[in-house]
Amino acid sequence: MRAATVPAGGGLDKITLVEREPGAPGPGQVQVRWRATSLNFHDYLVAAGQIPVQDGRIPMSDGAGEITAVGEGVADWQIGDHVMSTFFPFWQGGAPTLHKLMGVAGETVDGFAIEASNVDANTLTGIPAGYSFAEAATLPCAALTAWRALVEEGGLQPGQSVLVEGSGGMSVFALQMAKAAGATVIATTSSDDKADRLRELGADHVVNYKTDERWGKTAGKLVRSGVDLVLDVGGGATIKQSTEAVAIGGSIILIGILGGRDGTITFPKYFFKQASMIGIAVGSHEMQRRMVRGIDVAGLKPVIDRRFPLEALGEAFAYQISGAHFGKIVVEY
Ligand SMILES: NC(=O)c1ccc[n+]([C@@H]2O[C@H](COP(=O)([O-])OP(=O)(O)OC[C@H]3O[C@@H](n4cnc5c(N)ncnc54)[C@H](OP(=O)(O)O)[C@@H]3O)[C@@H](O)[C@H]2O)c1
Repeated sequence: MRAATVPAGGGLDKITLVEREPGAPGPGQVQVRWRATSLNFHDYLVAAGQIPVQDGRIPMSDGAGEITAVGEGVADWQIGDHVMSTFFPFWQGGAPTLHKLMGVAGETVDGFAIEASNVDANTLTGIPAGYSFAEAATLPCAALTAWRALVEEGGLQPGQSVLVEGSGGMSVFALQMAKAAGATVIATTSSDDKADRLRELGADHVVNYKTDERWGKTAGKLVRSGVDLVLDVGGGATIKQSTEAVAIGGSIILIGILGGRDGTITFPKYFFKQASMIGIAVGSHEMQRRMVRGIDVAGLKPVIDRRFPLEALGEAFAYQISGAHFGKIVVEY
């Protein structure tokens, strides 16, 4: 079985294919023939050496595939079931704790850029009805983050407004989910072509954050009294404008650092707006199962921009970091 590995220190051109045989699954484990993974910014940081990993680490936190063998004591899964991974293998439900946030695949343990491996049965969930493996592989990180921001933390109600930033994987899911929930959605992008695609997906308003430096203020005015829920992915580059956009009593969900790890905020603006700010890291297995039910009911399908074979994983990362993509990039095997 082929696997892609990253050397200590990273390097997109140093990703190497190796052979690994998983053996039989142990008690409580299942064997999965993984068929697809999808790229997240976190995976890029691992592959590029910006998150240090053990030499020969198999990258990728997302995986979807089919169960091919079942270990002793496993009652929940059968051979042939289609499954997907969870970002935090120990976070079944409830509030996060340090232990529940350990063991992220593709970082501290091997991930899913491998054709087959044995995993603990309780780290998997089912996939939405009618989903291909490639579609399911887009969900565990990006879609669950969007779902948690909007539904689990944001408590989004029909008629409210949402601001999504850029046209990357997480933000496009957030746009689709927010529209399905009956919200008014404002999207930002740096590209006029992508603006058209965001409108096709249902964005009510699109603002170009490159040509309109005060895009946060513009977004707030588009819905008259400010945006109820802002999903911030730019970090240092966007937090100031996210603050301009948010409504009195609204919320900013801190998700990404695409534009920088540090930034400044104007405190009186927060006091006046009485806005809340919460950081999130993906979500629990319970949230993932609720998301699958939500996707089933809404009939939502992911936007897959491009597909690469396993041997082209480095190329896939280079494409991701070029920023040319719209939605998700998938690797199939
Ligand atoms: N906290 C969590 O649990 C969690 C989970 C998933 C992702 N994230 C984080 O969320 C961020 C987005 O992840 P992703 O996987 O969706 O990334 P992605 O697919 O690589 O998103 C890239 C897109 O983001 C937009 N972008 C880049 N810089 C921007 C900026 N300064 N301001 C606004 N938009 C900008 C661009 O859109 P345009 O081309 O349209 O301009 C770019 O194409 C990353 O920082 C990632 O680490 C966090």
